[in-house]
Amino acid sequence: MKLTLKIWRQKNANTKGELKTYPIDGIEGDMSFLEMLDVLNEELINKGDEPVVFDHDCREGICGSCSLQINGEPHGPDRLVTTCQLHMRMFNDGDTIVIEPFRAKAFPVIKDLVVDRTSFERIQQAGGYISVNTSGNTIDANAIPVNKQDADDSFNAATCIGCGACVAACKNASAMLFTSAKVSQFALLPQGKVEATERVLNMVAQMDKEGFGNCTNTGACEIECPKGISLENIARMNREYLNASIKG
Ligand code: SF4
Ligand code: FES
Repeated sequence: MKLTLKIWRQKNANTKGELKTYPIDGIEGDMSFLEMLDVLNEELINKGDEPVVFDHDCREGICGSCSLQINGEPHGPDRLVTTCQLHMRMFNDGDTIVIEPFRAKAFPVIKDLVVDRTSFERIQQAGGYISVNTSGNTIDANAIPVNKQDADDSFNAATCIGCGACVAACKNASAMLFTSAKVSQFALLPQGKVEATERVLNMVAQMDKEGFGNCTNTGACEIECPKGISLENIARMNREYLNASIKG
């Protein structure tokens, strides 16, 4: 395939960026989107130009770092896949592909296509954990019965990889889907009940402090989430928050 790439280039957080055009040839349908960018970067390096900086790590859909806005959609046109799992067969010969970083005030651009998503880490640090007695008297986790549906729902919430596509898809740049997945993961389990009140209050407070917008129920986050995280998690977090506010 012969393609035209329009890629966001930005030197650093303090400079203005712009879309630059790069023609590319010899792209196979079986290549992943990141492999296509590898081909471009090899060409740029051979010409003595600066390669395009983009984030990646596992390249198998589990780390959440390969976050790109492709033709206006987080992780591109396929469903339930990350950018590293997106195949070039989703595009046609002659296509123009616009590649940008995820856009949100709470995700400032570091360079080119890489954004700073440490705001997500600070939300996690505000309450995305449980405290366990590890003094030697630790209770075997299997000794605490967990309802099968709750275990499944908790597991599904835990599959959130923190990629930020939900934020990038939302017109308000809301982080409700991410935060609610992290809250739900624990709220559904007996082990998470102990710190439930402070967890939801602290995580929501941190989310607001980071500058993410409000949820207006458009559902774009659920559609673009590569892990199929359900909007039910937002409803659950709202209930948790209400209960915690009454108690707290
Ligand atoms: S909820 Fe989905 S889109 Fe949002 S960070 Fe988690 S995996 Fe990514
Ligand atoms: S590189 Fe890890 S999810 Fe894509």
